[in-house]
Amino acid sequence: MSISKNITVLGSGIMGHGIAQVSAMAGYNVILRDIDLILLNKALDKIKWSLSKLAEKNKITQIESETIFKRITPEINLEKSLAGTDFIVEAVPEDLEIKRKLYAEVDRFADEEAIYASNTSTLPITEMAALTKRPDKFIGLHFFNPPQLMRLVEVIPGRETRPETTKSVLDFVKQLGKESVLCKKDVVGFIVNRIFIPLVHEAAYFLDRDGVTMTQLDSAVKYKMGYPMGIFELADYTGLDVIYKATLEMYARDKKVINPHPRIKQLVDCRYFGKKTGRGFYEYSSNSYERINLTSEEAEKYNPIGLVATAANNAAWLISNNVCTKADLDKALNLGMGLKTDLFETVKQFGVKNVLTKLNEMSAKYGPRYEPNPHIGTYEDK
Ligand code: CAA
Repeated sequence: MSISKNITVLGSGIMGHGIAQVSAMAGYNVILRDIDLILLNKALDKIKWSLSKLAEKNKITQIESETIFKRITPEINLEKSLAGTDFIVEAVPEDLEIKRKLYAEVDRFADEEAIYASNTSTLPITEMAALTKRPDKFIGLHFFNPPQLMRLVEVIPGRETRPETTKSVLDFVKQLGKESVLCKKDVVGFIVNRIFIPLVHEAAYFLDRDGVTMTQLDSAVKYKMGYPMGIFELADYTGLDVIYKATLEMYARDKKVINPHPRIKQLVDCRYFGKKTGRGFYEYSSNSYERINLTSEEAEKYNPIGLVATAANNAAWLISNNVCTKADLDKALNLGMGLKTDLFETVKQFGVKNVLTKLNEMSAKYGPRYEPNPHIGTYEDK
């Protein structure tokens, strides 16, 4: 079944408003549903800002920008938001209880054939599908922040997802002009978050262990590891509340995948959620798009080999467990996190042996979670 021109996005937050926008940009009529008008108005303001940015950069014309905006209809009433829709993208907060209640309602009102796609970043798709009456038409559809600029979408079938559902959703991603990677197993963190979320915690540990400053470490991530942002900068940009929730979910399901650092919880307890609250790891002067000043000079003061090693180890786990191919891993990190250099190329630049030595050292000091995955040893130094 192909997805028609009418879709519904549930949740209008950072991800929901962006997904609604990119869908409208691809010609879909979108109903954007949230529980109150204040949230919906904020979302519409963000969409307006983003469309005007894209028009400013000649990616779309002013007239297109207005047409796209008109394709998005805000709605509070859930039943109304689902009428005539055959594709529902859910992007509500990452709380299984919230999702459970929502899906029970959605099941009452949605068209029988409608596909449910969840933008969850870490909740297991099979478990979520089981909350609904249609696990065969349920799938993970994971966009990256900001959906307007990031070209990747991870597609994660659950155990009972029918191949036709996967096909329709892969076609939808193509219609959006985005690239998909298929996450072949419903594993904790899928592909990108299995690397990104643990890295934020590791970076916090390296601050303690290596006596480095945040901007030195972030500059090294940017200038020596090929990331477009520093890791703390990216965490603040993503939202520390989002990172913290993802951490809890990942840790609850697999203790080996992540080593939670208490700093993230402390920041979240203080409601320092990052960029959106004006403070996270860094402090921000305004609500608008703002970058941290990171420099190549600062980067010279820190060797981020421990971060390269932990990212490579998680990536190696994904490949050796057949969750994705090496080509899909590279595509995912390039288009989902903006990495300019393929991860294992960076490993080679730092030296495969040096990376293995670092992991062995960390494993001896901090536990078996850091034991090197044998896949790393299949690469050779340049
Ligand atoms: N819509 C339109 N334009 C936007 C925008 C949006 N939503 N957000 C930012 N822009 C604009 C900015 O205003 C800026 O415009 P100006 O040039 O006029 O100032 C421009 O886009 C970007 O400029 P930058 O100099 O900051 O450029 P950059 O080359 O660093 O690109 C970026 C920005 C694409 C965000 C890049 O930094 C990047 O790829 N960062 C990594 C993002 C990432 O990793 N996302 C995934 C996070 S993990 C996740 O989302 C999954 C999860 O489940 C937690």
